[in-house]
Amino acid sequence: MKLVTIIGARPQIIKAAALSRAIKNHYSNRIQEVIVHTGQHYDDNMSQVFFDELGIPHPDYNLHVGSASHGVQTARMTEGIEEVLLKEKPDFIVLYGDTNSTLAGAVAAAKIHVPIVHIEAGLRSFNKSMPEEINRIVCDHCSTLLFTPTKAGLENLKREGFPMDNDGPFTIDNPKVYHCGDIMYDNSLYFASIAEQKTDIIQRLGLTSNPFILATIHRDSNTDHPERLNAIFEALIQLSKTTQVVLPLHPRTAKLLKTNLDSEKQTQIFNRPSISIIPPVSFLEMIALERHTQLVMTDSGGVQKEAYFFKKPCIILRPETEWVEIVETGNAILVDADETRIMQAWQHFEGNPPTAFPEIFGDGHAAEFMLEQMLLTNATRK
Ligand code: UD1
Ligand code: UDP
Repeated sequence: MKLVTIIGARPQIIKAAALSRAIKNHYSNRIQEVIVHTGQHYDDNMSQVFFDELGIPHPDYNLHVGSASHGVQTARMTEGIEEVLLKEKPDFIVLYGDTNSTLAGAVAAAKIHVPIVHIEAGLRSFNKSMPEEINRIVCDHCSTLLFTPTKAGLENLKREGFPMDNDGPFTIDNPKVYHCGDIMYDNSLYFASIAEQKTDIIQRLGLTSNPFILATIHRDSNTDHPERLNAIFEALIQLSKTTQVVLPLHPRTAKLLKTNLDSEKQTQIFNRPSISIIPPVSFLEMIALERHTQLVMTDSGGVQKEAYFFKKPCIILRPETEWVEIVETGNAILVDADETRIMQAWQHFEGNPPTAFPEIFGDGHAAEFMLEQMLLTNATRK
């Protein structure tokens, strides 16, 4: 069986590590994986570092699309992916998540009848002003095999009319939905102990004995709106009066801080010893930070889940989340970009640190399950 895997943005590169590892360890004589990097993320610390660190095979193709408006970026990727698919003639294209690279892969593949495997299917924010919501809906509805990480994802697909008890052969018109756990849980389990041995970020940042807050901010709904960005940073400044704040800065945010954050706040955040603004870190470093932090504050999809994996409370800097289970279990609180709500959530978790983190993201073997289903579906088509 031949797979073409599309990656492009940081979280997709990390997710791909789990599937590539499972192929290498268990299926190397039965599955060939061709990796296509769209080039959506390209800085070394947003891309190459993950190949170096996580054992992901070097991409067979790099489309080098770089940054551009949604339409231009997606169009360039679609063109490049179509060309690769026509040449490689894979049995499946594998698409992760909800980025423009996912959308481009879905459109390119569906039109030339390459069956799509969507990993992280079914997630919904019910907020179509997010580019990711458009991308994931389109991808789900063009897919043949849909692997949903959560029960909420399964329910969403059911509500949208996906069949649940259907038999094969599975096609774009008779898609198959599997609820199978989260491939990022596979990765977090696998890399957790490796991270402790191979990184020294906790020592390097002087965090060994001090509790600290780990924050990430990159969502366009926060970075592109000055009032929201200022509210979030005002809260971080307040929190930094009593607690160390560590903020690995996404390049989008780094760029937009200069224009969208009040200059007096810029001076404060870059000059306060209790706010450590650092370049994006590697995945192993991120895991180490997540394992040692007191609390995570983020608008990232991946990071809010990793907080849960490592049993840390999370303040979600968004009005809603696709990962509703972590809010329902009381381990995360949605605060939007509201300074007062951020401070209230912080006080809540300081007084009541959560202790129960039920297993809702599978058993750490989602990748093997997915590959088995792909092999089975492929066998019935031949
Ligand atoms: C993208 C995804 C988002 C995902 C995020 C993960 C879409 C629509 N958005 O958002 O869902 O959560 O990746 O990080 O696909 N830039 C650099 N260097 C890089 C990459 C980006 O400087 O290596 C800067 C550029 O100024 C670029 C901006 O970041 O314009 C945004 O990059 P882009 O990939 O368009 O979107 P993200 O905000 O990263
Ligand atoms: N991550 C990382 N270094 C960082 C910030 C995040 O390795 O400096 C990892 C993080 O652990 C998670 C993934 O990147 O696995 C999440 O990516 P991001 O927040 O960019 O995107 P999202 O998940 O919101 O799409």
